Amino acid sequence: MAFFSLPSSTHPIYPTQICSSSFKPFNSSSHAFPPTRVKNYNLHAKASTCKAQNAEHRQTPSTDDSISSSKSKSGKTSAGKFERRDVLIGLGGLYGATTLSRPVSPDVSNCTEGRMNPSGIPIYCCPPSAAGYSDYTPSASEVYTRMPAHTVSHDYIKQYSTAIAKMKNLPLTDPRNFYQQANIHCVYCDQGYAQSGFPDKKLDIHESWLFFPWHRWFLYFFERICKNLLDDDTFTLPFWQWDDPSGMQIPPMYNDSKLSLYDFFRNPKHFPPQVLDLAYDGTGLPIDPNTQMQYNCCTMYTQMITHPSTPLLFFGQPLLGGDDPDPGAGSIETLPHNSVHLWVGDPSQPNREDMGSLYSAGRDPIFWAHHGNIDRMWYIYNNVLKRKNIEDPDWLNSSFIFFNEAARPVRVTVKDSTNLAKLGYTYPDLPLSWLKCKPKARRRGLILTKLSVNAPKANEVLPMKLEKPISFMVQRPKKSRSGQEKAEAEEVLKIKGIEFDKGETSVFDVFVNEDDTSQSNPCKAESLGSFSSLGHGHSMKSTTSQFFTISEVLEELGADDFDSILVTLVPRIGVVTIAGIEITFVPKP
Ligand code: C2O
Repeated sequence: MAFFSLPSSTHPIYPTQICSSSFKPFNSSSHAFPPTRVKNYNLHAKASTCKAQNAEHRQTPSTDDSISSSKSKSGKTSAGKFERRDVLIGLGGLYGATTLSRPVSPDVSNCTEGRMNPSGIPIYCCPPSAAGYSDYTPSASEVYTRMPAHTVSHDYIKQYSTAIAKMKNLPLTDPRNFYQQANIHCVYCDQGYAQSGFPDKKLDIHESWLFFPWHRWFLYFFERICKNLLDDDTFTLPFWQWDDPSGMQIPPMYNDSKLSLYDFFRNPKHFPPQVLDLAYDGTGLPIDPNTQMQYNCCTMYTQMITHPSTPLLFFGQPLLGGDDPDPGAGSIETLPHNSVHLWVGDPSQPNREDMGSLYSAGRDPIFWAHHGNIDRMWYIYNNVLKRKNIEDPDWLNSSFIFFNEAARPVRVTVKDSTNLAKLGYTYPDLPLSWLKCKPKARRRGLILTKLSVNAPKANEVLPMKLEKPISFMVQRPKKSRSGQEKAEAEEVLKIKGIEFDKGETSVFDVFVNEDDTSQSNPCKAESLGSFSSLGHGHSMKSTTSQFFTISEVLEELGADDFDSILVTLVPRIGVVTIAGIEITFVPKP
């Protein structure tokens, strides 16, 4: 099957960015540093190196009091210590004065092209030049409601299909062209832009706290382009309501090959009525539909309720200007975001194109319905679960550049993405069956000594290349915490220094106190979830972390008074290297 790559008609091919050793992002001497009132950035490590930064730097905070001390000469914190700013963020916002801010923004003056995807096929995903952009603040006067894709009318489907057809028919030089829209996603995932002010640091809006706001804005402009081409202000995008049993198949409008909502590059085994697997890891055979729906319900509970116990664990870890990409994905980005991409993509294609690889995902119209529901999860997080957004100014002031309905480049901020009324759309309040799908212990109160008899300690096996399943014991800093202590901080299992190749999809599953993973499933509390990174399109080593909130899980397992827990990692696709694992207490906001 031929690959669909757009020619770079308006842009020269730039060589891959060369790392500069003399580049200084900012001058530290011009800023005051009162020791306890200021975010404690690592001034040294980021200025002069292209090497991956120490994985400790942007991790979930510890409650350790010695956090702001013990910087080594290289600017690295010693093991187990965390920077002050991480603790401030962990507390739910900024408590000190900001003397340095490092919100992220793209440098659109230079789009890097001419790279190869892992199959050796060149990827051209620079959209038309976005230089000369202007700032944009939304101020809608009307609010329209997005609807589930499987419930909309025949007329609506015709209308939406017309909009996509019109976008596909726009000249390739027009950034509103459907495939140029896909390119915008590609360029922001494939590191086509550097971070503004940090020419040796590439920008990737996945696997960090930029994930939700970037995609919200992406859909916002896509929706406005549709409204404009249809000359209908009331038009809204549909969302794929995969969190409800009624929506757990490819919605019919995307499965009709006569409509422009169809895409050829999908897994033919997953056409309707196949029920979607929200924890899909690229392996395994389909199971009975009702059981699958039940598992999906539990996956939703785990990813929406259990793991995102603080804002950063929902949105993703901080990415500041000058940081290496991929500090760590939030709970939803891993599952069901990555898993649904993987489930839709065509396994006969080299990189599971279209949906199964980030560079090509936007070429499938179902991308926008999938992300509509991802965006709706943010809405639910705020409006149903009543949980707060990140308050850190570096998140709020991060900015992106898109093309508006007039094909003009505009810059928008994260802060302006947080109020849906201003953006002019909302979501209907639909029943959430997964609120009741809390996983239960497979064997409550299992005596751990039985499990641990042969298990090594984590530090005896890590770091390691994860080529086959492995179990090891992880020490808990504290057991049997009081109700007060539990109310103040969540117990979080952190898998750190996960080295992976962004060219490939990597998935491994994580279990706690489980001695037979083949007996587990998403409705068992022993099954914590997965690490998952979707292939981006280019081969590049990166390092990230993954977090699992275990306070309630250990209570459910009857393991709250255990000194250590048994952790089992089971690789599913790809091979990653894991540097370490630890349990920390993350302050609740
Ligand atoms: Cu930017 Cu669903 O990926």
